[in-house]
Amino acid sequence: TTSAPDFKVADLSLASFGRKEINLAEHEMPGLMSIRAEYAAAQPLAGARITGSLHMTVQTAVLIETLVALGAKVRWASCNIFSTQDHAAAAIAVGPEGTPEDPQGVPVYAWKGETLEEYWWCTEQALTWADSPTGGPNMILDDGGDATLLVHRGVEFEKAGAAPDPSTADSDEFRIVLELLNRTLTESPNKWTRLASEIRGVTEETTTGVHRLYEMQRDGVLLFPAINVNDAVTKSKFDNKYGCRHSLVDGINRATDTLIGGKVAVICGYGDVGKGCAESLRGQGARVIITEIDPICALQAAMDGYQVTTLDDVVSTADIFVTTTGNKDIILAADMAKMKHQAIVGNIGHFDNEIDIAGLAAIPGIVKDEVKPQVHTWTFPEGKKIIVLSEGRLLNLGNATGHPSFVMSNSFANQTIAQIELFTKPEAYPTDVYVLPKHLDEKVARLHLDALGVKLTTLRPEQAAYIGVPVEGPYKSDQYRY
Ligand code: NAI
Repeated sequence: TTSAPDFKVADLSLASFGRKEINLAEHEMPGLMSIRAEYAAAQPLAGARITGSLHMTVQTAVLIETLVALGAKVRWASCNIFSTQDHAAAAIAVGPEGTPEDPQGVPVYAWKGETLEEYWWCTEQALTWADSPTGGPNMILDDGGDATLLVHRGVEFEKAGAAPDPSTADSDEFRIVLELLNRTLTESPNKWTRLASEIRGVTEETTTGVHRLYEMQRDGVLLFPAINVNDAVTKSKFDNKYGCRHSLVDGINRATDTLIGGKVAVICGYGDVGKGCAESLRGQGARVIITEIDPICALQAAMDGYQVTTLDDVVSTADIFVTTTGNKDIILAADMAKMKHQAIVGNIGHFDNEIDIAGLAAIPGIVKDEVKPQVHTWTFPEGKKIIVLSEGRLLNLGNATGHPSFVMSNSFANQTIAQIELFTKPEAYPTDVYVLPKHLDEKVARLHLDALGVKLTTLRPEQAAYIGVPVEGPYKSDQYRY
């Protein structure tokens, strides 16, 4: 008998295709590749056991292999049921030296189109380390905070002696989490407390996950230090904005192939993601309308030349709707009922609660039909259809392949540096939420200049003294907003 392999992916035979795309991506990820070269000898992550919960894409594969090249052991799950690229997952499971018959890569639990039960099981597998003193990782690399949430909820319920009755959960997904935790509470009492005791910290990728971390810190329940990678300038002002500028239209095109030019598109939210999305659709010739609750962002949108109004005002006339808020209940079933025939509705924010799909499904007589995976029409009783992308989950990763390599090289260089910081200097980071110091942010940017042929001007010492900054940086105060 052979033991079950320590990974679960869709199809190992996709590994060679995945490897070819990883090889192409490496060239487009100069930040990660130069960090590999810089730390090859020092091996700063030797001894790190990193559990990653982040979209299992080609770009993430380059991140995983960077962490391994720096000495880490890694286990991985995707942070969304639709975002895995199966060839990337296969290549990671097989590893650069292995074959599909003899896989030698990283334990990865991810495939495109997981159920929610499978999703949380995969997250649990990524957090479960057979060969560790605590049975768990000593570092977490998170995107959206689900791995961090599982550990925190586990500890909370172990302290309380029991998890709540799953039937009292306020959502299907939370019921699944409670069922999982009830099982582990019986199977392995104190699993989460033991596991949390050795976690040196978490580095968090996205706005929504960072929001959860600050809430836990505020409530005094954060169990280990966290680095907010999202608010590195070279993350949120690049990935969230220029990444979405690329991948939003990619998702809409692959899903629908509808001509965007001339259409009226509504973007809900004009933060970093909304700004990139608006530019993306305007670039295709759409007439873009913004909704906002924040007067500053609303004014920015107006100054950038967009009409700013409420969803109510345009819901029955616009053609494309995209939510980018990180908030809930942005487009309700009643809104979708007012939309035009074949209006396109999608979300690019982290969670799927921006669009009320459950409310849509509850409309009497409504019929859902799959055009292809992650593209559905919903036909109302009177015959009108709307097109919903990725069932309301982030459409750039569900309908396309997410952000391209070059922008993710910035995000993931920050992730790697943050992992090194927390793992190698635990005494410098008592439990709290931190952002990376500005000189590291500037370093990440610097690593990407050559590839674009950028020639930087060197500050002369008198000039540096005049504006009061060191010649080698950092160049801006922490208040500066870019
Ligand atoms: P942000 O905070 O910069 O922007 C969100 C904006 O939405 C804010 O300006 C806020 O005022 C506005 N907003 C909130 N409630 C609203 C409402 N009811 N109506 C209209 N506007 C409203 O956040 P950021 O960085 O733009 O991220 C947004 C979401 O996208 C988060 O969930 C984040 O995690 C996710 N994200 C997704 C990515 C992807 O590739 N799909 C990439 C990066 C972030």
